[in-house]
Amino acid sequence: MNKTDNSELNKAQFGDNFKWGVSTAAFQIEGAHDADGKGLSIWDVFTSQKGKVKGGHHAMTACDFYSSYKNDILLLGELNIPNFRFSLSWSRILPNGTSPVNQAGIDYYNQVIDFLLECGIEPWITLYHWDLPHELELKGGWTNRDSIAWFENYTEICAQNFGDRVKNWMIINEPSVFTGAGYFLGIHAPGKRGLSNYLKAVHHVTLATTAGAKVLRNIVPDANIGTTFSCTHIEPASTKKRDVAAAKRVDTLLNRTFIEPILGLGYPQADLPVLKKLNRYILPEDEKNMAFDFDFIGLQCYTREIVRASIFTPYVGAALVTAEKRNVPFTEMKWEVYPPSIYHLLKKFDTYKGIKKIIITENGAAFPDTVSNGEVKDNERTKYIQDHLQQLLKAKKEGVKVEGYFVWSLTDNFEWAEGYHTRFGLIYVDFDTQQRIIKQSGQWFRKFLSNHI
Ligand code: NOJ
Repeated sequence: MNKTDNSELNKAQFGDNFKWGVSTAAFQIEGAHDADGKGLSIWDVFTSQKGKVKGGHHAMTACDFYSSYKNDILLLGELNIPNFRFSLSWSRILPNGTSPVNQAGIDYYNQVIDFLLECGIEPWITLYHWDLPHELELKGGWTNRDSIAWFENYTEICAQNFGDRVKNWMIINEPSVFTGAGYFLGIHAPGKRGLSNYLKAVHHVTLATTAGAKVLRNIVPDANIGTTFSCTHIEPASTKKRDVAAAKRVDTLLNRTFIEPILGLGYPQADLPVLKKLNRYILPEDEKNMAFDFDFIGLQCYTREIVRASIFTPYVGAALVTAEKRNVPFTEMKWEVYPPSIYHLLKKFDTYKGIKKIIITENGAAFPDTVSNGEVKDNERTKYIQDHLQQLLKAKKEGVKVEGYFVWSLTDNFEWAEGYHTRFGLIYVDFDTQQRIIKQSGQWFRKFLSNHI
């Protein structure tokens, strides 16, 4: 079936300007949690608390990218990967969140950027990938309206120091996940819970996204500026009215809450009434500050969810019917493997007039990889990527403005509350020895990118 299709998959089909890359994030790979003047982030604190992360895992060393960045960048070169997405650790640059600047942090990222460029690899920076400086959390973190100004200040420093060489920027990574998990459910850092924490964080992150983008635009006028959103294809469990309505609310929560205001459409309050409670945090001047004309929108999709109505879930009145229950294939994250979801999401987001260009800034899968005779035969991951690329290509052929695809991730790394249990890399990491083994999926990607398949 798909096998024949995938063997025909060829880089040339995506066009010469299509951006191929891999994505990473500072906290998940760097380690060196207190090296050279770095301050604590909320994730350093969260991982040090009992029972927060599976197996008590922490990221004090992680993949040791801080020391071994050259080695990993050489591996990028070996895999023919032309674009590398990574994030900056705010508390490495500003240990207290605001001032003074830690020159060692700036020097470190300059070395990474310069080495990437020396290797002919384009740097793509995410300014914020979830690791807020702990000092700022002590002042309320994203629930404090001052967070917008803190973020502008941090962005200004990054733009001034790196904007001469780095032209591709993403402001915030997956706001819906870190506000939902970190400020409503308390299962991610900083571990806050409740509706008012969540709603404040939502509004301040939205304003910080556009404020940061404006700062960047002023300092680096020729920057290619985007921001990234998680998205999940949603379907109702049945055609019953109440399931269809529940699916619409979940779709609004997961896929629309953050993107619509930045496109100038305001919060989608009509389709998710609880968002009306945001109005108490919206100041009159906010309306004009909520939108920004982004050069591209980064979409990160992994799965679909099937939704049914449920009176037991407050605010959304919906529950997910798990992949396990539905008896369909799923990954180590328990996420259904459903490649058409990337097609549906691309089609859906492409209908927003304000989106100029879409880049898939993350897609990938965790499977239980094992090393045997020095090899990792992760056929399932290779197939997952190939099948998603087929679906992306289908959307592209139908005219969707999708112009890039980044795999999550280069190496296995620290997967937040899952610790090191779930491996997403094209490269296997032995976390005891820091040895790297290019998985079969990495070998496939290398051949695919060299266009010799
Ligand atoms: C989304 C996040 O941006 C990234 O940090 C995470 O590791 C992957 N998806 C996989 O869950």
